Amino acid sequence: MSPSPRRHQITQEVTDMEKILILDFGSQYTQLIARRVRELNVYCEIHPFNKIPALDADIKGVILSGSPASVRDVDAPMPDLSQIKGKMPLLGVCYGAQLLAVLGGGEVESAPSREYGRAMLTVVAPEDPLMINIPSPTQVWMSHGDTITSLPESYKIIGSTENVKAAAYHIKNEKTWGIQFHPEVYHSVAGKDLLANFVYGICGCSGTWSPDSFIETTVKELKEKIGNDRVILGLSGGVDSSVAAMLLNKAIGNQLTCIFVNNGLLRKNEFNDVLDSYKGMGLNVIGVDASEKFYNDLKGVTDPEQKRKIIGRDFVEVFNAEAKKIKDAKWLAQGTIYPDVIESCSVKGPSATIKSHHNVGGLPKEMHLSIVEPLRLLFKDEVRRVGKAMDMDPKLLGRHPFPGPGLGIRILGEVTPEKVRVLQEADNIFISNLRKAGLYDQVWQAGVMLLPVQSVGVMGDERTYENCVALRAVISTDGMTADWVHLPYDFLAETSNEIINKVHGVNRVVYDISSKPPATIEWE
Ligand code: XMP
Repeated sequence: MSPSPRRHQITQEVTDMEKILILDFGSQYTQLIARRVRELNVYCEIHPFNKIPALDADIKGVILSGSPASVRDVDAPMPDLSQIKGKMPLLGVCYGAQLLAVLGGGEVESAPSREYGRAMLTVVAPEDPLMINIPSPTQVWMSHGDTITSLPESYKIIGSTENVKAAAYHIKNEKTWGIQFHPEVYHSVAGKDLLANFVYGICGCSGTWSPDSFIETTVKELKEKIGNDRVILGLSGGVDSSVAAMLLNKAIGNQLTCIFVNNGLLRKNEFNDVLDSYKGMGLNVIGVDASEKFYNDLKGVTDPEQKRKIIGRDFVEVFNAEAKKIKDAKWLAQGTIYPDVIESCSVKGPSATIKSHHNVGGLPKEMHLSIVEPLRLLFKDEVRRVGKAMDMDPKLLGRHPFPGPGLGIRILGEVTPEKVRVLQEADNIFISNLRKAGLYDQVWQAGVMLLPVQSVGVMGDERTYENCVALRAVISTDGMTADWVHLPYDFLAETSNEIINKVHGVNRVVYDISSKPPATIEWE
């Protein structure tokens, strides 16, 4: 594959807008802090603790995240906060609070037992700006192995729990606070109110970041950057690429050409249905049916990784062949979202884990396309809110995730057009039934696997020897971990009957009751 195209990213950093800076020390909850702040309609960005960006006037305050590290470690992350502490509002959370305590001359020791789980916080200083209107006592979520055992004179304790005296403190005459609990976690009942006190009351943010304001600024920015150029975008039928396309369509209309490839591994009727709905949305879309090419290249291939490679390679070839026909294209648009671009922070030094999208890696160099990623600042739920604000079809916005290689990795073993047909039928019954039963939106992802297993059955007076399919339905937040959904027995019974009765070639249905880990969501 040829190298990635030049990256002229636009809408990478927001300027002229109030924002909160979150310095990440590697906590599992850092993204959650960002989401809570954004739920307060305040824009925020996550940066690794050792890559502090320029502190311009837009930054109204800084939050230090938690960390798996201990401030007592010899190599503990200790950034230079001299341009921040005492100069602008600062809130340390967990490790952040312990770091600020140590920097001021306080002491942090290993807690007698790890402080984990719910605790009741008593507000000691209800008049403190961070504690305004916080009920007392209030449940908070603790998760730390270290604890602050002494604080300097100038640090005033404003909240305590039974085991943690310095659960919350304020440095006198400074806009600096520390809290050893996690306000971003749902179990901290008044956590969002406390963050609101920080971002509104202390930092003075006005809370004007909203889907509508995002659309307005992004559309304006896209218009300015793209001018009269032509843009190409690969649509997948999923939420991100569709919302990205709608934003671009709003900004530049027909200068956007979308390409939607049928790899023959989509759901039943999906290619035509989705193509129609894109056209109905006013998008300029080219639909390319390349099913035959994919089926031919997958002939005889059984190894899952090999299948993925072939499907990825074929996609790039088909996409490029179409893209090249668009002669004056200058930009390639992608539906990259914020979790894909946040640099993950290891406490031994942040390392970039930027996912490459399968349609970037192989674009021909001679096309000299620059990248435009209108959603690169948004979390998934924000992408949906932006889509909703643009009146996009709720059915499209609420779609379950679907893997790029599609049914190709849900047919175990060799992929053939006949197996695709069988799986499409079974999958269509399962998904339609989930919708009819009102269960679709309660499930994060669902699908059917076609197993390379034949078993004996009876149909009427006939003995059958046919395929087995496995139904899979999971709940998850990001696909990293997942649990199987306890679908009602009646629902499973009806779906199983319907599949066996209607799908020629299937005589047995099983339900997958494995969680991830140790299993994965897909079977290949
Ligand atoms: P696993 O099977 O790893 O899946 O638990 C986690 C999530 O990733 C999706 N997935 C893929 N998506 N290309 C994709 O675009 C792939 O090769 C691929 N493999 C798994 C899967 O559907 C689930 O949402």
